[in-house]
Amino acid sequence: MSDVRMRVLVTDVAWPTVDVEREVLAAAGAELVLAPSGEPAELARLAGDADAILTCFAKVTAEVLEAAPRCRTVARYGVGVDNIDVARATELGMVVSNVPVYCVDEVADSALLGILALARRLLPLNRDIVRGGWGRDVPGAGTRLRGKVLGLVGLGVIGSALAARAQALGLEVIAYDLSGRPVPGVRVVSSLDHVLAEADAVSLHVPLTAATHHLIGAEQLRLMKPTAWLVNTARGPLVDNEALLAALDAGEIAGAALDVTDPEPLPADHPLRRRDDVVLTPHTAFSSDGSLAELATRAAANVVDVLQGRVPATVVNPQVLTSPALRRGLEPR
Ligand SMILES: NC(=O)c1ccc[n+]([C@@H]2O[C@H](COP(=O)([O-])OP(=O)(O)OC[C@H]3O[C@@H](n4cnc5c(N)ncnc54)[C@H](O)[C@@H]3O)[C@@H](O)[C@H]2O)c1
Repeated sequence: MSDVRMRVLVTDVAWPTVDVEREVLAAAGAELVLAPSGEPAELARLAGDADAILTCFAKVTAEVLEAAPRCRTVARYGVGVDNIDVARATELGMVVSNVPVYCVDEVADSALLGILALARRLLPLNRDIVRGGWGRDVPGAGTRLRGKVLGLVGLGVIGSALAARAQALGLEVIAYDLSGRPVPGVRVVSSLDHVLAEADAVSLHVPLTAATHHLIGAEQLRLMKPTAWLVNTARGPLVDNEALLAALDAGEIAGAALDVTDPEPLPADHPLRRRDDVVLTPHTAFSSDGSLAELATRAAANVVDVLQGRVPATVVNPQVLTSPALRRGLEPR
């Protein structure tokens, strides 16, 4: 085995071990150093002899980057890079990479889980049984999904994966996506309002941007059928929580399944937590044994690529590659 010469600072992780990434890095002769707390001052201190930084949620600020004279790359575990000062990293010639696709099946499964839970009345039946009852007195009969309409807002990779699952269950799928891109078997419609008015379940799969903040508010919820459900596995601020609560109370919609909320976590006494018609999970749609292993492997591989002089698969700041001063001997992929 070669001498360990390179050090990779891992600022934080959201899973129990770093064995996967340690193995990938060790094979490339790099040693992994896991920061105990992820606090900025600690990161700045540990960055001093780091050749690369791997980060999940911890803030990789300009101060941390400036304290890392040997660092050639900052790799994000995941898609969004809002915790990294990308502009400063670029100025300092550091390649910033991410892992855009690692949990498509998991998130699509989670959205489907929400729809199935609402259709099969999982929460009221299970809660009655947990309380000592047998659920037979819980009013309602469930909802037959075959023949119902699933409306997707956003038909990218996750929306498309959910479409395939829903079609297998006999749902008709309609979708609104800015791109207008066709997907086999999906009826693409030309407006959000159309999806809201026609769908029996509306599932959100768009990124959070200034344009999509509170995409679903009181006005949009009023367009939905009183029997319809809203599913959000994308980002909490896409939905105006207060408007959602009011719509549920007023019977304007029949229920919701939310993996993401605004804020996260919801306050302990938040009324959305206590409803049989709202299925909540704690922003875990991305998480599975397989997705986390893939995420760790691919993020670590992005680091290895840069340390070995290659351009990684997914570079967030490609301008760093075009500057001879910044390029630092990277070979094209
Ligand atoms: N809950 C989780 O754990 C989790 C995990 C991964 C991703 N996500 C979220 O899921 C979202 C979707 O992921 P993806 O991989 O399918 O992304 P993607 O980029 O493949 O698809 C997003 C789609 O949204 C469309 N779009 C963008 N703005 C729009 C708008 N205003 N109206 C209509 N369509 C619009 C785009 O054209 C694109 O087709 C991500 O942005 C992320 O926020 C959540």
